[in-house]
Amino acid sequence: MVNKCLFPAAGYGTRFLPATKAVPKEMLPVVTKPLLQYGVEEALSAGITTMAIVTGRGKRAIEDHFDNSYELESQLKGTPKEHYLNDIKKIIEISTFTYARQKKMLGLGHAILTGEPLIGDEPFAVILADDLCVCNNDSVTLQMIELFNEYKCPIVAIEDVPINKINQYGVISGTLVEGSKRIYKVKEMIEKPEIDKAPSSMAIIGRYILTSEIFEILKNLKPDRNGEIQITNALNIQAKQGKVLAYKFEGKRFDCGNFKGYLAANNHFAKDK
Ligand code: UTP
Repeated sequence: MVNKCLFPAAGYGTRFLPATKAVPKEMLPVVTKPLLQYGVEEALSAGITTMAIVTGRGKRAIEDHFDNSYELESQLKGTPKEHYLNDIKKIIEISTFTYARQKKMLGLGHAILTGEPLIGDEPFAVILADDLCVCNNDSVTLQMIELFNEYKCPIVAIEDVPINKINQYGVISGTLVEGSKRIYKVKEMIEKPEIDKAPSSMAIIGRYILTSEIFEILKNLKPDRNGEIQITNALNIQAKQGKVLAYKFEGKRFDCGNFKGYLAANNHFAKDK
């Protein structure tokens, strides 16, 4: 059973400076809702109520957002504006939020390892809130959990991206699982390959189902040439043992880590308002 979701949210968000100087990137709003709240709602839609958030310096707004705000609530109580708080109050009521602080921003793998005390010895989902995913029916995390329940191994979500952008991603090579059009058995994973050396155009996006085995691998992994611990390199060790699946999810992703994707997400959600 996947009962917990890890949200790495400690990065500097440099591509959004100066907006992210004092405001966490994960708290930037898409229309009126912070990115991280979309992620938490996705986890809830997959039946997960324990949220494990990895934060860092300057990220306290995240904890305040997912906590009661008695002054504001009492100010709005009984007024026509009270309903604006309904959704977030419901989320706070049904979820448990736990936090760990990443002391040095040493990459996504390091952030995931920082979450180990919050996760313990059980499989878990990972959501990178700046990849905002929209699905017609089941959320991408729910789709992946259903796969995990069947295959019981780590799963990464993938998407075909234009080859000239492939060097911005972790990339997989693999073979389709028999009878499936969306599930690949991963042979190899490479973090940010040079364009002419990329094994495919299938890029890993910000959704993972991991097992607790990953923590030992991360502890023993050498940093890359930028001094970062990469989750792709840790998963590659498991992939070489034939243990990792990649899943071309049904839905659309907005890369809100850059302003073009962020604007597209805002346009998409503004249509529903
Ligand atoms: P990104 O590389 O997209 O985020 O990491 P970033 O580093 O904050 O953004 P830029 O490149 O400087 O603009 C993907 C996710 O992993 C988290 C980030 O918060 C983001 O949600 N992350 C990254 C950490 O928690 N810790 C890290 O050391 C690095």
